[in-house]
Amino acid sequence: MEAIAVDPDLYARDSAYSPDDWQSETTSIGSSIYRGLIDNGRRYQSLSDKEYLIPSDEQQFETYEAGHLVDLILDSDRENPLFRSPIGADREKVLQILDIGTGKGTWAIDVADMFPNATVRGVDLFPPPVTWMPPNCVIEVDDILEEWTWREKFDLIHMRNMLGSFDQREWDRVYQQCFDKMAPGGWIEQVEAGPFVSSDDGSLPADSNLAHWGPLMEVCGARAGRPCDIVMTMGDSIKKAGFVDVHEKVYKWPLGPWPRDQKFKEAGMVNIQHWMSGIEGWCMWLLTKYGEPEPWTKDQVHVFCAKMRTELKNPHYHTYHKTRRVWARKPFPGEVPLEAIKPRSTKSAGGGSSSGSAKVKF
Ligand SMILES: C[S@@+](CC[C@H](N)C(=O)[O-])C[C@H]1O[C@@H](n2cnc3c(N)ncnc32)[C@H](O)[C@@H]1O
Repeated sequence: MEAIAVDPDLYARDSAYSPDDWQSETTSIGSSIYRGLIDNGRRYQSLSDKEYLIPSDEQQFETYEAGHLVDLILDSDRENPLFRSPIGADREKVLQILDIGTGKGTWAIDVADMFPNATVRGVDLFPPPVTWMPPNCVIEVDDILEEWTWREKFDLIHMRNMLGSFDQREWDRVYQQCFDKMAPGGWIEQVEAGPFVSSDDGSLPADSNLAHWGPLMEVCGARAGRPCDIVMTMGDSIKKAGFVDVHEKVYKWPLGPWPRDQKFKEAGMVNIQHWMSGIEGWCMWLLTKYGEPEPWTKDQVHVFCAKMRTELKNPHYHTYHKTRRVWARKPFPGEVPLEAIKPRSTKSAGGGSSSGSAKVKF
């Protein structure tokens, strides 16, 4: 992938990008409206017996909003930055859309606003604190690993940032239920982030906590039975479930306002807040239960997160991590998959490349 050019004027300018502005941390005070399970000062869902590694509390909902915004910024040159599956051109068609693990429901709400003829369902283990919803958006509290009871067949099923939610057997079950409950010709679309932080110009020291973060999450996630490599495996798993016409696009998500290009600069500004508010929730459960080389204390996690935040604010580190978007179609009855009759093309109609899921770490 092409390197993102660094802004040479970043530190010279007295601008909105001054460290005083973008380095401030996001803090939130949790509300006790929803009960859930409190552990190490964070609130976790309690609907399913299986523990979900990331909290469902105000701080994490703030994190989801920021992540959603980065996604929108990086696709802001598209008419529809919310998904790439080629549905919705016919605005008269009534669409059935499902967002699995909807979090705060922001994606589902935005899609419902953009497609008033669609019914958009967002499902999650925890009820999101939303006060207003478009009439064509429904948020449901349920465990997606249970048998699905929706009667409608979906035209689009979306998932984002579900990393660490399931083991491979559970993932296969989720994709199979997606396939079975999809209308013929319907699309599945998934966006996942890789945990590895890097820099193209060697500005991130190999012994930094940021460089250590990806390998740590990988080891502890595997130990917990929640592999953090879904970004690498989802393309193949989606194909295995029977989907065809598989496309993918890889994005670089900058950390900080260091890029020269305005779109990447804005994405980097928001992404740094995304990480500032997110890291503690991303790692507290994993490290206190399955930490390397042994479970960490809550205080050790706090110290580690504080060091990570300090490094995130270092304007000399030109860091980023990658995300991958995969979208694929359920074949029509009797359809012979294109892949079976002609060599795989590297071009795609949807603006991404056909998924070959290159085996590079990210
Ligand atoms: C990291 S969040 C991502 C939220 C949202 N998709 C976004 O991109 O902002 C993952 C969500 O998946 C939900 N989740 C995890 N396991 C689930 C399950 N078995 N059924 C339903 N939701 C689940 C979690 O509660 C959490 O809200």
